[in-house]
Parts: sequence; C-alpha cells; structure tokens
Amino acid sequence: MIYSIRAIQDKHSIVPEEMNKLIQLHKVKVGKSGMLSKNAYELLISHLGKETDSDSKPIYILNGNKVPVKNKPYYETPDGRISIFQDDVISFLQGLPPNSVDLIVTDPAYSGMNQKLKLGRGKIIGKYNEAGKEGAKWFEEFHDTEENYKAFLEACFRVLKKDRHIYLMFDSFSLLSLAPIAREVFEVKNVLCWDKANIGLGHYFRRRHEFILFASKGKRNLNSKNIPDVWKIKRVTSSAYPTQKPVEVFELMLKGSASKDFVVCDPFLGSGSAAIAALKQNCKFLGCDISSKSVSLSKDRISQFLKTRIDPYQKASLLGDDDAMTKLFFNGKLK
Ligand SMILES: C[S@@+](CC[C@H](N)C(=O)[O-])C[C@H]1O[C@@H](n2cnc3c(N)ncnc32)[C@H](O)[C@@H]1O
Repeated sequence: MIYSIRAIQDKHSIVPEEMNKLIQLHKVKVGKSGMLSKNAYELLISHLGKETDSDSKPIYILNGNKVPVKNKPYYETPDGRISIFQDDVISFLQGLPPNSVDLIVTDPAYSGMNQKLKLGRGKIIGKYNEAGKEGAKWFEEFHDTEENYKAFLEACFRVLKKDRHIYLMFDSFSLLSLAPIAREVFEVKNVLCWDKANIGLGHYFRRRHEFILFASKGKRNLNSKNIPDVWKIKRVTSSAYPTQKPVEVFELMLKGSASKDFVVCDPFLGSGSAAIAALKQNCKFLGCDISSKSVSLSKDRISQFLKTRIDPYQKASLLGDDDAMTKLFFNGKLK
C-alpha cells in the first residue's frame, strides 16, 4: 500500500487544487514526492466529503466537482458512473455544478391534477398505500404550482449543458396547465405520446396515454430521424413502486438524444427506471428523489442489475406489437 497524495487523488477523483486545500486545512505534513505517513493518509481520507470551502459551506467532491455535502450520494456505484441522492428536486439541482448534465429525462409527481380538477373524490388513482399501513402514501408529491414548476425548469436549465435535450413527462391535465411554462425556459420541439397499449382507469374516457414534452437548450439534432412521435409500450403491471414507468420509455429518450458516457439526470427518480435505461445505453446517471422508499428501492435495483444484467423490477420487455418500436429496439443500429 502506497500512502501518497497521488494515491488519494487517483482513488477518489480529487482535483489537485482541492487536495491542497484539504492539506492546508488539516496542516498535514507531506514528504518528498507527495509521500504521506499512514496516519496522515487516513486523516485525509477521513475528511474527504467533509471538507470546508472558502464560504465555510461543507462540500463533497463528485467527479472532481464541488457539490454541497447535503447532496452526498445516498448510493454510488463503485465506478462512480451512477449516483443517486435523497433530496428535494430543486435543492438537488441547485447543488449540481452549472452545465454539468447532458440529458434530462424525468417524470415529475404532479399534484396539480388532484388539486385543480377535483375529479371523483380528488384522489390520484393507484397504489399509494404502503402494504400494511392504510392511508400511508409512498411519497410526497412535488407541489407543482406554476411558481414551483418554473423554479424546477430554471434549475434544469442551469445544470443542462448547451445544445442538449430534455424530456418531461405529463398527464393530460398537467400538460394543459404547466407545459406552457416550459416554453418560457426551453425551446419546445415536440409533444410525444406514450401509448400504453391497454386502457387503464379514468373519468369520462379510460386513460391509455401520457405525454412527453421534448425540448432543447440550444441546438441539437436527434440521433435518428426514424423515431415516431407515438411510442406504443405497455404499462408496468404489478409494479414494485407506484407510478413505475417502463424502462423502454426512458430508453427511447436516450436512443433519441444520448451518446455513450452522457451524464443523464432524472431528478424524480421513483423506482429508478431511468437509471436502468442509462445503464443499458452505456450512459452515466445522476438521480434524485425525496422519498426514502424510492432511493432504497433504486439502489437495490441498480446493484442487482449490475451484478446479473437482469432488471429485478421489470423482468420482461414491455414492447407491444408496434413495428416501429420493434425495429428501434431489435434491429440494432438506428436507421
Ligand atoms: C411519478 S414518480 C416517478 C416514477 C419513475 N419515473 C419510475 O419510473 O419509477 C415521481 C417521484 O417524484 C418524487 N418526488 C415528489 N416530490 C419530490 C420532490 N419535491 N423532490 C424530489 N422528488 C420528489 C416522488 O417521491 C416520486 O418517486
């Protein structure tokens, strides 16, 4: 075992500038060629992630970037390519460095649908009760007032690199009320439809679809000109997490807009479907959710997938009988 500054930098992706600050802060004695005593090495290691920057704010070093310590990952894969955080969406995004994300794909928890429409008894239909605890919700909803939604979009804009894409999922009602705000922040390019192939519950008409707003920050072409604007992919039944979406929905977003090693971000992580899509498409991933159930389930899902290449929470493909989808997924290269 070599105790040196270099060994710490390499192992923990610390940039030299940050390493020097840490050394000065803890008055560590450094020998010739950056060699350290075992005690000094262990002291420095024990302070990684608890460092104090010049504003006295605690910081964590993520891939060489400073991130507030509040945002230390809940879980990180050993290679550092996938990190998930338990935090509020806006606080999480504000803690990321500007222009650090290559693609945002996300499915927010819309509470407006309940509050504004007062349909039926005003409840979102679905499995919100945790087994054994009647009335308990699995997660808090993001309060999607217009003000909050704009703040969320602006936080997305800040972290997204220039000339990159964002995909935002909407039900019909949040599309009517909140999607127009997206035009104030991003260049909205299209509204896609996820056709769930089979009908679900619903008022007046039974629901079979959701919308996906596709927008950009700056200019960027899609990876293919052959992706249709209706995506027929079956819904997840008997899901491990309420509102779990098919991995294929996120994979299509990545097929359209990601390159290998892109940093993909989903700040409303849920069951981690977008993380599995990122792994399948050889991308890096940053995810966040406010719910402890979400982050623990996602951690379990990601680590099992990495060990076995089998997704424990969506064992089978949900592609239906749509030729365009089958070609996109099974004919290898996009045309
Ligand atoms: C519609 S679900 C996402 C489902 C996910 N796409 C999947 O496939 O499993 C929305 C998620 O947003 C989370 N959420 C609600 N309010 C939040 C907030 N303020 N910050 C971060 N996450 C929040 C919920 O805990 C929930 O897991």
